[in-house]
Amino acid sequence: MILQRRNRITRKSAAIRALVAETVLTPDDFILPIFITEGNGVVEEISSMHGYYRRSLDKTLEEVAVIWAMGIKAVLLFVKANDDTKDNAGRESWNPEGLMQRAIKAIKNKVPEMVVMTDVALDPYSVYGHDGIVDVEKGTILNDATVEALTKMSLSHAAAGADFIAPSDMMDGRIGAFRNALEENNFSDVGIMSYSAKYASCFYGPFRDALDSAPGFGDKKTYQMNYANRIEAINETLQDVEQGADIVMVKPAMAYLDIIREVKNAVTVPVSAYHVSGEYAMIKAAAEKGWLDEDKAIIESLTSIKRAGADLIATYFAKDAVRILNGK
Ligand code: PBG
Repeated sequence: MILQRRNRITRKSAAIRALVAETVLTPDDFILPIFITEGNGVVEEISSMHGYYRRSLDKTLEEVAVIWAMGIKAVLLFVKANDDTKDNAGRESWNPEGLMQRAIKAIKNKVPEMVVMTDVALDPYSVYGHDGIVDVEKGTILNDATVEALTKMSLSHAAAGADFIAPSDMMDGRIGAFRNALEENNFSDVGIMSYSAKYASCFYGPFRDALDSAPGFGDKKTYQMNYANRIEAINETLQDVEQGADIVMVKPAMAYLDIIREVKNAVTVPVSAYHVSGEYAMIKAAAEKGWLDEDKAIIESLTSIKRAGADLIATYFAKDAVRILNGK
């Protein structure tokens, strides 16, 4: 055959493939989620997330030093609150001496350059396991009262030294409320990474085991988005940008690559994607059975998420990915 174009020429060797690769992962792409629990010397494996741990603050600090040395530059903090601190209003969430606030301070103290991002939602602190305050009679989630509570929570994270607050609650009007509150309270350099298009997803299951935060009744479908919808994600994201979000997020990632791409095309702020707990668990479980090559599945998944348009990826595989990228 005489062909004018032979596409296989640029696939001929590993060197050529590397030269023409459109998407290249680096450690700068990753945000590592971290689960923190009360106590000392605690390192507990999460039953539905093999190889992933909840740590007390002392052990978390050791881990943060390790991951900084590996080249990971951002952590996203979650805490497991003790049952006796939980109520409907989530009061513990803005306790200046709470576990989250102590953790932010200690991490910034230990590794000042580490970018500290903090989850903002009431679920770990709620007796009902919901992201917002429950109207107990109606069994509904109160939007405006929740935004008020979350504003206090956000300010307490800023006061403790957080670089970015990361609201994952999906209440209406929260980004504008947080931005105003940060401005008014002299935290104008604190950023907002908004979970803008967060879907009501079964893939959060293992995370809820990790923090003991599964909803006690009902589900989260009145605030998290319906996975059947696409245009709604653009609507949510554009509103968050208008209200002052510095980084927007799509969550989960692998089943939502189309949304990541559309959001990327619609906004001019950085886009992040959350490769969530269930996505981690799927790869781990298949690899444990010998059905998938774990390292290859990790890199292919994360590269696909970046190719779809994610500038940043929150992933439980961040450490593995850096190890693999370094050829170890
Ligand atoms: C809580 C929150 C959740 C996740 C991040 N923040 C769970 C939920 O909304 O129920 C999920 C993360 C994951 O599954 O890895 N607002």
